Amino acid sequence: MCGIVGYIGEKQATNILIDGLSKLEYRGYDSAGVAIINNNKLNVRKFKGRLSVLEEDLRQNEIQGNIGIGHTRWATHGEPSDVNSHPHTNCTNDIAVIHNGIIENYMKIKKWLEEVSDVTFKSETDTEVIAHLIDYFYEGDLVDAVYKAVEKMEGAYAIGVVCKKEPDKIVAVRKDSPLIVGIGKGENFLASDIPALLKYTREVYLIENDEFVVLTKEDIKIFNEFRQEVKRDVFKVTWDVESAEKDGYEHFMIKEINEQPKGTKETLQRRLDDNGDIYLDGIKITKEDLENINKVYIVACGTAYHAGLVGRSIIEKYARISVEVDIASEFRYRNPIIDEHTLFIAVSQSGETLDTLAALREAKKHGARILSLVNVVGSSVARESHDVFYTWAGPEIAVASTKAFTTQLMAFNMIALHMGLTKGTLTKERYTNLIGRLKELPNKIQTLLDQYELIQEVADKQFNNEKVFFMGRGIDVEIAKEGSLKLKEISYINSFAIAAGELKHGTIALIEDETFVIALATQDRLYEKMLSNIKEVKARGAHVLAIAKENNEEIEKIADKVIYIPETEDELTAILSVIPLQLLSYYIAVARGCDVDKPRNLAKSVTVE
Ligand code: F6R
Repeated sequence: MCGIVGYIGEKQATNILIDGLSKLEYRGYDSAGVAIINNNKLNVRKFKGRLSVLEEDLRQNEIQGNIGIGHTRWATHGEPSDVNSHPHTNCTNDIAVIHNGIIENYMKIKKWLEEVSDVTFKSETDTEVIAHLIDYFYEGDLVDAVYKAVEKMEGAYAIGVVCKKEPDKIVAVRKDSPLIVGIGKGENFLASDIPALLKYTREVYLIENDEFVVLTKEDIKIFNEFRQEVKRDVFKVTWDVESAEKDGYEHFMIKEINEQPKGTKETLQRRLDDNGDIYLDGIKITKEDLENINKVYIVACGTAYHAGLVGRSIIEKYARISVEVDIASEFRYRNPIIDEHTLFIAVSQSGETLDTLAALREAKKHGARILSLVNVVGSSVARESHDVFYTWAGPEIAVASTKAFTTQLMAFNMIALHMGLTKGTLTKERYTNLIGRLKELPNKIQTLLDQYELIQEVADKQFNNEKVFFMGRGIDVEIAKEGSLKLKEISYINSFAIAAGELKHGTIALIEDETFVIALATQDRLYEKMLSNIKEVKARGAHVLAIAKENNEEIEKIADKVIYIPETEDELTAILSVIPLQLLSYYIAVARGCDVDKPRNLAKSVTVE
């Protein structure tokens, strides 16, 4: 999820690159850099941190030049640092490369390059191998060298390359990562996304998979993988910058909700080895370590805490280890019992939440092993953990967390299955079967997203209802809590969630005519009990939206409206049942005219106590 920009023309390249990158910072923002060619010199400047760090440096030490490439990074391989930032260069500093995506076989290429050349690698990134690979094949023709390099690469990428020996061109290539070319007069542009170029041109070529582009000042040529030139119609952009950044969605939140099939799929697929078994790259916990652990604490805040609540059920079920879940701000101050037999799992999208970080430090001080589930690579929580599972949801911009949550749930499933198999509490057969069920989830999420109109209808009827309760049993209680948090934070409705069995111990007193109750009834073994709870609130006049597994039609006789989630194991329903609740909160907030992406009083990253 990085942003890439390129410029060739008569103007100063840095200004255009920085401006373009500023429109792409939403794609990733942990470091930024540029490479500019001028007077037979390739100048590279790159820094960890926001784009402003690079900007400030360029203000103080300008780089002249009319051709260059720029990058804003969302770290995947190697933590955010100056050296891991893009552009990356070959050893002699002739060739510079920017890259968005992942080169899956980069370790293999790296080893091969070390065998066949004198290359020295400076960074931990997959991108750097591309620069050395192009250098290896370079015999005076940059386009030819890029073609040969790409033949060796597997994975997803959009790449921009400049070479000081050929200062009249930028070469770019795309496979599974977005890439566009902006058409100018006496100048041309490259970018991973339209917003970067809208200030300069509204005429673009949309580059397709396996296509190569050669940009000069006067010309743009597109070639297919067989080196044949292809003709492309000009795409005229009619959107404004704001909506373009959101891929045409009205808000980041709904864009991110719709990114969940992709996010959960990537979290899973990239960690399955050739045999289809789970391979946890950042986690080094052995069978002995697991046998040594007698207590797991999962600690987090907000939505991440709700993911932890679901994680508890899964870990206890598959790995048979006792798990406690705590809110980070509480954990720190309650003097918990921690020693070297404790596994502490921190869950955090940003990896910068101060309470989570402080709880982690407290646990570490008492000898616990620290495993974190984090979305932002190289964040503080990740850096201070012994083991890290990156959720790879991509940057989450909307304050209300959605795609980070479902990827956290996927992560917990994978960790629990891995622990269960390693400990022997799960048979290989059951483990393989459950991985198969996990693989089905991204498509099932998509099925639910496709039914958004059903949810929109409910939202349109209920958006003015100021009394909303969520209830469920088992894992459904945790999703009820998440649904309630999502609703209150973006629509400001005073909602709350309750374990359905607790209703008659007090809360049922609040149910009256037209109270809106969202009842989750996805757990097979608790289904009948949920039907009784729904009857109880119906008898007091509630309007009930039920979420149930498909093929359970008798619930339609009791609830006012039912949304069905596709069939899956009880332990896996959470990833599905949260989707209609996210959509419901979103459409209710939109109907109430709320600022969905930036709700009042809230911040994306809570770095204060
Ligand atoms: C709710 C939400 C927050 C965060 C919480 C923790 O939609 O986004 O509740 O989940 O602030 O943040 P991270 O996961 O960054 O530690």
